[in-house]
Amino acid sequence: MSILYVFTFLLIFPFCSGLRSCTTEEINNLVTNCSTYETKLSWIRKFEISTTEKLTKTRKLCLQASNCYTSIKCQESVEKFEKSRLDCDKDQFVIGGVPNCIEWFFKKIYNANYNECLLENDFLTFNLTTRREAFTFGKQCVLKVLNESQECDPEAVQFITENYLQIVDYLTIKSNDCQDVHSHYHKLHCDLIDDEYNKEYERLIWGDKKVEDTGLFMIQLGRELIECESHSCHNSGGIEIGNLKEEILAMEIYGRNYSWKCLYDIRRPSMKTLMEKLLCLRDSKLGDDQECRRKFVEKICGNGNATEGTETPMVTEYYTDD
Ligand SMILES: *[C@@H]1O[C@H](CO)[C@@H](O)[C@H](O)[C@H]1NC(C)=O
Ligand SMILES: *[C@@H]1O[C@H](CO)[C@@H](O)[C@H](O)[C@H]1NC(C)=O
Ligand SMILES: *[C@@H]1O[C@H](CO)[C@@H](O)[C@H](O)[C@H]1NC(C)=O
Ligand SMILES: *[C@@H]1O[C@H](CO)[C@@H](O)[C@H](O)[C@H]1NC(C)=O
Ligand SMILES: *[C@@H]1O[C@H](CO)[C@@H](O)[C@H](O)[C@H]1NC(C)=O
Repeated sequence: MSILYVFTFLLIFPFCSGLRSCTTEEINNLVTNCSTYETKLSWIRKFEISTTEKLTKTRKLCLQASNCYTSIKCQESVEKFEKSRLDCDKDQFVIGGVPNCIEWFFKKIYNANYNECLLENDFLTFNLTTRREAFTFGKQCVLKVLNESQECDPEAVQFITENYLQIVDYLTIKSNDCQDVHSHYHKLHCDLIDDEYNKEYERLIWGDKKVEDTGLFMIQLGRELIECESHSCHNSGGIEIGNLKEEILAMEIYGRNYSWKCLYDIRRPSMKTLMEKLLCLRDSKLGDDQECRRKFVEKICGNGNATEGTETPMVTEYYTDD
């Protein structure tokens, strides 16, 4: 697609640098005709629709916008065309198969043992310098894993292979713009950790796993999630960071004596303990949060079992409490 744009660009604006300024009428045309496509584009990009539909619609609108700009041959139009082209090129990185593939790749690393080379490179570190090295030296590993996957769309794999350097830039160069591709990939990462953590949480609550089997893993995931969120400009829709800190603390305090009741009541404290916690956090001096959380956890969990009077969690309660 981008090649196509550049090609059109060269055809239509062979001497673009020397173009004259647009006339009032041309500016008028730019505003009334071309900018309608941009408005629609920004709307579609934000709107929650299926990714295939999104990609089809943005492609069509990008083409229409491009045709509109190239039909008006003057300086401001070229500038708008360039800006539009950059935005449209980014669409391929954030919509559809490519982000799905990247998410799938991250997931494979968490469910280790999939391929040894995934563990040899530190793909998930938040130190972007180290991560860049991992993706640079581990290029063959990344492409091999993606290429062999059955779940990753072949067209997306092809695109990633051809645009590998650009993808690595997006994964490893921080951007201050929350709409940027980097932020988008970062959010995929945080959401994934959030997901993994909550899966373990539910296994514990429902008795499918014991603390001794998942405790350390959960502490590690939990800390990773806190770090991930600290680098993120998006609010994750998942677990609240305050709760997360308390759950990790509880696992550290009680070790294997930690029961699902404690975990359950930390996320759903009674009004009384919640008020105590909020007052304590409000009154705590800067940096005392940890002490406050510790009091809260000990009050709720006592000897590691919950003291809030929760019996077996009721299915309805569990799913409607939030
Ligand atoms: C813009 O729209 C007007 C009115 O619909 C039309 O006359 C004009 O040709 C259009 N210009 C371009 C460049 O499409
Ligand atoms: C990231 O890792 C590099 C290389 O190991 C190191 O020099 C750098 O200090 C680290 N950066 C941060 C922010 O920790
Ligand atoms: C991907 O797989 C196809 C067939 O399975 C193979 O022909 C191709 O060389 C592979 N590409 C890479 C980069 O491994
Ligand atoms: C867990 O309980 C046992 C037996 O009550 C106790 O000896 C041990 O110290 C407890 N461990 C922790 C981390 O509290
Ligand atoms: C928690 O409570 C259960 C049931 O009351 C009991 O069997 C278990 O020993 C208690 N665990 C701790 C660490 O006190």
